[in-house]
Amino acid sequence: MIDPRIFKVEIREGKERTIKSYVLRNNVLDEKGEKALTEGSKYLVYFEDGKTLDSPSLFSNSNPFVIEIGFGMGNATLEIAKEKSDVNYLGLEVYLDGVVKLVKRLNEEGLKNLKVMRFNAVDVLEHMVADESVDGFHIFFPDPWMKKKHHKRRLMNPSFISLLISKLKKGGYIYFVTDWVEYADEVLSYFESEKRIVNPSGGFSPHISWRPETKFEAKGRAKEHEVREIWVEKK
Ligand SMILES: C[S@@+](CC[C@H](N)C(=O)[O-])C[C@H]1O[C@@H](n2cnc3c(N)ncnc32)[C@H](O)[C@@H]1O
Repeated sequence: MIDPRIFKVEIREGKERTIKSYVLRNNVLDEKGEKALTEGSKYLVYFEDGKTLDSPSLFSNSNPFVIEIGFGMGNATLEIAKEKSDVNYLGLEVYLDGVVKLVKRLNEEGLKNLKVMRFNAVDVLEHMVADESVDGFHIFFPDPWMKKKHHKRRLMNPSFISLLISKLKKGGYIYFVTDWVEYADEVLSYFESEKRIVNPSGGFSPHISWRPETKFEAKGRAKEHEVREIWVEKK
């Protein structure tokens, strides 16, 4: 039996909707999806307003806790978690097919350090993550919302960046990557005006060796898009 909470991805729905950084394309599970989520149910975490996400109780250890926002199909997410088994990862994504795919692979491979939550990351951070409790955030190739009239939908805006920083422990990092140069410049300028962080590279970062190519990155590179990486740390 599927937990019905999997179909609700945001606090405000319908008329109450605010500007969102995503569009929900599918909210229905086929038989294979139901099977994958039922068999991999131990990898799913559900949104519970007011309940604080606690890495030691989710993973039964006190390893560093890193949150990835918008993992897509989760290929890179899984590779990173396999490579760094001494870090706990929580992947946030609203795209149902991606959630199904990652949970299925997690269950097949039996990883112990990665869990998945299907919910709007803004709601999760605002309602379930304590301040100064996260060791790192991964945000790889968030939707660039190319048209000017859609820029307001971009995930990385000053208020979301401020929220991310408030949730980081001292010394924690934000690792952001995009193939949209103008979005990269915008995000870098937001970080430059943030007094709570340091940028060890002083600008864009060299490629971080442990990050594998993501699905969206491959698409961007095929179109000869330039990839920009940003790595900043909380003071
Ligand atoms: C362009 S895709 C990139 C996926 C993956 N990181 C990659 O590089 O292949 C961006 C993803 O972010 C997800 N997303 C956007 N806003 C989100 C939010 N507020 N909370 C959770 N996921 C979000 C979308 O559903 C989409 O799958």
